[in-house]
Amino acid sequence: MQDSIRCVPSEICQVMKTMSSSLVIDAESSYPVANRKLKEWVNELKALCQPDKVYWCDGSQEEFERLCGEMVSAGTLIKLNSEKRPNSFLARSDISDVARVEDRTFICSRNEEDAGPNNNWMSPTEAKQTLTGLFSGCMRGRTMYVIPFSMGPLGSKISHIGVEVSDSPYVAASMKIMTRMGKAVVESLGADGDFVPCLHSVGSPLAPGATDVSWPCNRDHKYICHFPETREIWSFGSGYGGNALLGKKCFALRIASNMAREEGWLAEHMLILGIESPEGDKKYIAAAFPSACGKTNLAMLVPPAALKGWKVTTIGDDIAWIKPGADGRLYAINPEAGYFGVAPGTSDKTNPNAMATMRENCIFTNVALTPDGDVWWEGATDSQPAQLTDWQGNSWTPGCGRPAAHPNARFTVPANQCPSLDPQWDDPKGVPISAFVFGGRRATTIPLVTEAFNWNNGVYMAATMGSETTAAAAGKVGEVRRDPMAMLPFCGYHMGDYFDHWLQMGRAVSSPPHIFCVNWFRLDEKGKFLWPGFGENMRILQWMFKRVAGESGAQQTELGWIPRYADIDWSGLDSVTREQFEALMKVDSQQWQAELELQSELFEKLKDRLPKELVFMKELLQLGLNR
Ligand code: OXD
Ligand code: MN
Repeated sequence: MQDSIRCVPSEICQVMKTMSSSLVIDAESSYPVANRKLKEWVNELKALCQPDKVYWCDGSQEEFERLCGEMVSAGTLIKLNSEKRPNSFLARSDISDVARVEDRTFICSRNEEDAGPNNNWMSPTEAKQTLTGLFSGCMRGRTMYVIPFSMGPLGSKISHIGVEVSDSPYVAASMKIMTRMGKAVVESLGADGDFVPCLHSVGSPLAPGATDVSWPCNRDHKYICHFPETREIWSFGSGYGGNALLGKKCFALRIASNMAREEGWLAEHMLILGIESPEGDKKYIAAAFPSACGKTNLAMLVPPAALKGWKVTTIGDDIAWIKPGADGRLYAINPEAGYFGVAPGTSDKTNPNAMATMRENCIFTNVALTPDGDVWWEGATDSQPAQLTDWQGNSWTPGCGRPAAHPNARFTVPANQCPSLDPQWDDPKGVPISAFVFGGRRATTIPLVTEAFNWNNGVYMAATMGSETTAAAAGKVGEVRRDPMAMLPFCGYHMGDYFDHWLQMGRAVSSPPHIFCVNWFRLDEKGKFLWPGFGENMRILQWMFKRVAGESGAQQTELGWIPRYADIDWSGLDSVTREQFEALMKVDSQQWQAELELQSELFEKLKDRLPKELVFMKELLQLGLNR
């Protein structure tokens, strides 16, 4: 039986086989396709989904422009003013389709326990049965796009290949920006190369003669299903972001975390940046933050001018694939080729590099439109424009009581337009990681920065981190939830096993990176941020750089090593007083008692598979705090 339908129940298999046996194996591609699994899979899907046409993406710029042109004619995209925003477009999604749908996201492992309490689970048989029903005829009246993509530089030992089949031209165009996409990927597969099959439909077939809507999706049925054992993704009903661009969260995190565990590497929700000292020394760090905690801002940070000669360069803003090198270090690539960043809050002040990156060749989704054909979102400028069209296409004026852009509005833009792009960003070898940084959005308790005593202690800190929820996922905003390693919505298996994998990775390499925790978001009693953040975060990166180089001092606390006031370079910054710094670094034992109780809830949930090392670490901390 073909790989792609390995877990389909036998009756469905029979139906699919009967349907495909009447088909000639004809890939309908304008370029040669040698890969047998790919051709067979596409033919099966053609029979199942019954599209009007099958189109194989070649990944060319000409193709991108053609797809965008077609979407403009169909009303899915609005072309922006070519002088202000060359070759750029605005998409407005359906009001029901604006974010990842975590409650409709499933890990379909054979055993429920393997998905863990951190995931919704469905049996693979049930998922395939339900979805086969939904996919049946779901592309009628539409084109089925075959989108071959490489996560990471083609040919790199750290990269992996996927093929997405989707009925959304918006997905095809976005995948061109977000991945290395097209014909070269099919060539590299040869006759027998393997790939992760990613099936996607917006779930909105078009009856003959019916007029389409600008953002087709399925308001009643949404399923984002992952099959870790067979390494497949089936996504139905949504056209938005991580639900639909399947290379990103679905493949690069949920499926890849399973691959990484089996094969001895790490697939993480991490940005990667380079720090260069005035002497020209370079170190790379990978940093995990939950959605909408300023990851893109940190990845593209512009250091304050007063820190003369220090530079930050960008490798990636969201995901890192990290494999051990022969020299005992961990090497990371950014598997993506573009940024799918949150627009609101991004400005020349908060992230000038992102603003420059999206100058052209950009697809904006759910931002507001200005009268002169450009885009705007909350926080883009200090003052609000007098008149806009909001993200739903309605007229908007300041004070009307509605946001102009959706809080999860996005820009999709090629990475190679980023002014701070690191020269090694595309290097197939990856870059050596000197430090891992874990951060959450916490108003209290967690100090501005802490360095773990050792690997296991760092894994404990990362495993117990918490954060307030954001607009990137549907649900309540502002609630604090435990978000271990910022992977809660993205770890494709039991979180207890994931912690164990992390502990093992520290033993598997001779030079594991240092581990730091940060919290840029601590508030004073009046609710004001204690730390200025943004470019000033450089001072903390600089301290980490020096710690890794063995050049900076620190003070020991129960939690780990923290900088003393004198260990931070304060040149050019006088807004953070010594008292404020002490407040930022304070380990408040009452708050920590409460924190440890909350951690117990997490440990209780995962207890069947929680590594003992983490329990010991928690007990040690408790002892330290009681002393
Ligand atoms: C993202 C997210 O879109 O984390 O990157 O939600
Ligand atoms: Mn993310």
